Amino acid sequence: MCGIVGYVGSQTALDVVIAGLQRLEYRGYDSAGVAVQTQGLDGQWSLATDKRAGKLANLEKSLAETPLPAGTTGIGHTRWATHGGPTDANAHPHLDDHARVAVVHNGIIENFAQLRAELAERGHTLRSETDTEVVAHLLGEAYDGDLAEAMRAVCRRLDGAFTLVAVHADAPDVVVGARRNSPLVVGRGEGENFLASDVAAFIAHTREAIELGQDQVVELRREGVTVTNFDGTPAEVREYHVDWDASAAEKGGYDYFMLKEIAEQPKAVADTLLGRIGTDGRLHLDELRISDQVLREVDKVVIVACGTAFHAGMIAKYAIEHWTRIPCEVEVASEFRYRDPIMDDRTLVIAISQSGETMDTLMALRHAREQGAKVLAICNTNGSTIPRESDAVLYTHAGPEVAVASTKAFLTQLVACYLVALYLGQVRGTKWGDEIFGIIRELGDAPKQVEQVLETMEPVRELARSLADAKSVLFLGRHVGFPVALEGALKLKELAYMHAEGFAAGELKHGPIALIEEGLPVVVVVPSPRGRSILHDKIVSNIQEIRARGARTIVIAEEGDEAVVPYADHLIRIPVTPVLLQPLVSTVPLQVFACELATAKGHEVDQPRNLAKSVTVE
Ligand code: F6R
Repeated sequence: MCGIVGYVGSQTALDVVIAGLQRLEYRGYDSAGVAVQTQGLDGQWSLATDKRAGKLANLEKSLAETPLPAGTTGIGHTRWATHGGPTDANAHPHLDDHARVAVVHNGIIENFAQLRAELAERGHTLRSETDTEVVAHLLGEAYDGDLAEAMRAVCRRLDGAFTLVAVHADAPDVVVGARRNSPLVVGRGEGENFLASDVAAFIAHTREAIELGQDQVVELRREGVTVTNFDGTPAEVREYHVDWDASAAEKGGYDYFMLKEIAEQPKAVADTLLGRIGTDGRLHLDELRISDQVLREVDKVVIVACGTAFHAGMIAKYAIEHWTRIPCEVEVASEFRYRDPIMDDRTLVIAISQSGETMDTLMALRHAREQGAKVLAICNTNGSTIPRESDAVLYTHAGPEVAVASTKAFLTQLVACYLVALYLGQVRGTKWGDEIFGIIRELGDAPKQVEQVLETMEPVRELARSLADAKSVLFLGRHVGFPVALEGALKLKELAYMHAEGFAAGELKHGPIALIEEGLPVVVVVPSPRGRSILHDKIVSNIQEIRARGARTIVIAEEGDEAVVPYADHLIRIPVTPVLLQPLVSTVPLQVFACELATAKGHEVDQPRNLAKSVTVE
């Protein structure tokens, strides 16, 4: 949450910072602001700032009307509001009393009330309701010719989660950043350097990045970058090369990122499988960093994740328990550590996160490691905090996901979960050995099958447009279709802002059936009639039950499943897959449905209201 950019070099800082913020706006769009170092004709340095409530476009308009003086060092921020509403005054950057320091921040400073009271007592005037402003005043007080040293001193006084980036008028061509829990990466250029919450902000300039660790301060100058720990000792850092380029973070001719990301799913799935299925038909996950011996000894798997990633985890539970016979629990990460969960060194915790920065998931994994569990991250963002703090990581290769609503990341999380489940089965030699090797083969067909679904989506789009005025939509599923139903409902809520709920179809008669009324659209995800036909028969009965009560049934069923035809007002066909892999194809129509319905309602699908892509506060 909140996007941060810092630049020092020889280009016009404002241009670099605004272009960076455009790429980070998915992280929050409640307000935006910039600060640039400028030198007057008298040779004196000062800070020029502008900040506006609302989307970045408001700031851009203001800057077009009243341009800032030029400068080559600057910082910027796009905000997801925590402390204080989305007003101009609460927008970042925040300044100290003399407007010599400007600070932008992502996170929450938990002891800000106490610090604020102390500052007020010392005669400072605080102009906003934010926690961030205290940092500007503290930095102003602490500055004694070395901004990095001042930042270290201030950070030692702060509790909570924070990424801070600051400039000082008396320290020309210097940008200083600090990181605890929230993300911050350095981009290394030639005679210029960058700081940002996400590499997307500077990928047009450089693909060489440095990962900052916990409790580190970075000083950026044109000629180099110095990283220290909060206590001032030199810090060890990891440099890496970003393996995608600027075009991956652009719309590429699509109206929305979400449309592009839905369309990219066959490739994202293929990339996530790439190199992991050997020519011998076995899985090779050498990158896992957890030995096969440790995996053989695991006696419980616990999956923690949030939102869409949690739904991927729910599906993984079916696969893990069936293929490995290891008990598996799944829990929303925000609840996990508060209920005193039982774990030990034979517990494998799987933390699923696209961004790798979700605070709830990070806190859950830290708690798990404290209890001695091994943690495996499934993550899409190289160098992010969750994989850094885990014992092992399996990266998904979805490429950058910019739209706030997750699509391609979800499908690749599913692939990664299947790979882990199958690998556990492979190393442990479970009785499902033959089935496992068959499934590994069939997983290789997934990109083609997702492509096939995408080619047949026009009727789904048409149906979505016809439902733009519906008050509510229900989603039902059984087995792995249940989490898919939850995911379909989540996509519709977040994009179309309408009442949408997912249920296990078997729960219907225990309450939710009372919601069914004439014309209510109900989407039903039908399990394959092969394999567990009893499941299929039961859901066909459920469809009849709701239809008899007036529901308009929208049925997602495998090609060749004729039993559903008489009860489907709308039938969406998906390819035949192994039972457990069906979510890879059944989720896609639900993404398309939600995206189209939201568009028909005139919503901005890439930036749904109140949301942000990377939730870095609990
Ligand atoms: C919904 C969505 C969110 C995320 C959740 C976890 O479309 O995107 O529910 O899935 O906030 O985010 P990550 O995967 O980054 O931990």
